[in-house]
Amino acid sequence: MNESVLIDKYGRQLNYLRLSVTDRCNFRCYYCMPEEGIDFARRKDLMTFDEMLHLSAVFCKLGISKIRITGGEPFVRNGIMPFLRKLSVTEGLKEITVTSNGTLSERYQAELLQIGIRKINISLDSLSRERFAQITRRDNFDGVYAGIFKLLDSGFDVKLNCVVAENKNIQDVVPFIELTKNYPLSVRFLEEMPFNGSDGSQVQSDWDYKRIYQYISGHYSDINRLISDANSTSVNYKIPGYAGSFGIIPSFSRTFCGTCNRIRLSATGELRTCLYGPAVVNLRDVLRKGASVTNLEQEIIQAVSRRERDGYAAELASQGDIHTSMSVLGG
Ligand code: GTP
Ligand code: 5AD
Ligand code: SF4
Repeated sequence: MNESVLIDKYGRQLNYLRLSVTDRCNFRCYYCMPEEGIDFARRKDLMTFDEMLHLSAVFCKLGISKIRITGGEPFVRNGIMPFLRKLSVTEGLKEITVTSNGTLSERYQAELLQIGIRKINISLDSLSRERFAQITRRDNFDGVYAGIFKLLDSGFDVKLNCVVAENKNIQDVVPFIELTKNYPLSVRFLEEMPFNGSDGSQVQSDWDYKRIYQYISGHYSDINRLISDANSTSVNYKIPGYAGSFGIIPSFSRTFCGTCNRIRLSATGELRTCLYGPAVVNLRDVLRKGASVTNLEQEIIQAVSRRERDGYAAELASQGDIHTSMSVLGG
């Protein structure tokens, strides 16, 4: 029987695991890593898919019911589809979702649907090919853009993630909302966070959620606020009559910590109870030392019991070390 035992001392139940399957990515988005990349993990340090399956089963036993597959770019890891197929039959797991940069997901569409994965979040920061290339340092706009419509056509529930920043893509905000006029997708505008793999760097963008909303409301006289899921990262809106919706994610302002239901496992086994916090334990190491399921459960329960109240307290606990690339953290 699966129990809901992952409840922190502030009463938040954790039922959503973000599992990073690789720290590698075929893009070099400026907000995520430097042009030359980062020190990617060595193969032996990555968890094997069998290790991930084992740990996922333990998490589900403890009440995790949703797993989001992240990276890096999840589809660059060889063997991802057989892994997802096996993961999908984990007892207690109700939903698998994926976050991808959209370069490779298209070729796996049919198989993803067959496995039962029909929600995919695609990172797309611009609707201009030039700005896309400037932001990602790769010239893949056409493929990613076309892929989004193929996903929609095939019946996927698609969300676009767009990190908003001055001198990068402000001119794309309204065109993104206009895209929701005819297409049933959700575009989410994100605040930039400091996880860019560069030591000591600051968030460059001063576009916080209030400024993003203000900018949008300067262009639309009628905006309906939608009722969102209790644990949603985004506050969601709709322009009346439009097929899709848009949202704003205060990822740096951290206004949604009070209802945070997420726990994170990196591709090398680091467990984080907050994106802004330090790794609490390395479950790969615990597992490789021969831990039993009970030992693993205890480690996870212990980590959750020490969970900080919010992303600000977690940031303090990480003693200024908040520059790790999102590609390593798993987003
Ligand atoms: P849904 O499951 O569709 O609600 O997606 P999601 O928003 O949980 O996941 P996604 O991978 O699309 O992430 C969108 C953005 O929200 C990314 O920039 C994430 O880093 C950010 N985000 C997700 N969870 C958290 C969180 O717990 N804290 C903060 N600060 N940001 C988060
Ligand atoms: N700040 C904000 N969002 C980021 N992402 C990656 N790095 C950052 C950052 N430093 C976004 C990606 C992806 C999501 C998982 O996180 O665009 O959509
Ligand atoms: Fe959760 Fe930390 Fe994100 Fe807040 S900042 S929502 S506590 S992971």
